[in-house]
Amino acid sequence: MHISIISLLPELLRSPLEHSILKRARDKNILSIELIDLRTFGIGAYKQVDDYQYGGAAGMVLMIEPLVNCIESLKSVRSFDEIIYLSPDGELLNQSIANQLSLKDNLLLICGHYKGIDQRVRDHWISREISIGDYVLSGGELAACVLTDAIGRLIPGVLNDETSALTDSFQDQLLAPPVYTRPAEYGGFQVPEILLSGHQAQIENWRMEQSLQRTLERRPDLLKEE
Ligand code: ADE
Repeated sequence: MHISIISLLPELLRSPLEHSILKRARDKNILSIELIDLRTFGIGAYKQVDDYQYGGAAGMVLMIEPLVNCIESLKSVRSFDEIIYLSPDGELLNQSIANQLSLKDNLLLICGHYKGIDQRVRDHWISREISIGDYVLSGGELAACVLTDAIGRLIPGVLNDETSALTDSFQDQLLAPPVYTRPAEYGGFQVPEILLSGHQAQIENWRMEQSLQRTLERRPDLLKEE
């Protein structure tokens, strides 16, 4: 998979996308990520990218021309399956959207700033708008990192058996069960007996019960979704 990300602050994106699982995916050439600095498409000597909003309200808006020039130059190199604008008023990211997007070949993510981007870009160039939660961030960069991480780890071949995404929370609309490692006893706190028993079938039953219980207690809404 290839992910291009347009941003005014590409440095903010670089480090999170260069570590851990995403690093492994990139090293294995399963994932390539390209960061594009929108400023390089800015207009005039000052490389202008934003302007006051029509109608006179506070806050700057990213202009249509630099954004469209940037998008079109990327589209001349590859065709994107989705052009995604990260925005608090987009559809709420969940595991099912991450699963869908992890099957695509080419994604273009656009990070907004200030009051957002000119609506005409959203109307005519963007295919999907995604929010990572009901709160407002200073820009789309952290949201783009979250989305890239959620997608990247699901691309076939990125995770091995040990880190398999199949046992993640949300993968089956359930939260993951509790996990323990050595020692079996610490300061009087014991690891549940069943996990030391070696009875794999019973252990799996216990895990399923724990998942259900945790989901009922913490996220009963997940059990109501179809
Ligand atoms: N940009 C600003 N806030 C955001 C959010 N919650 N999700 C996605 N992009 C954003």
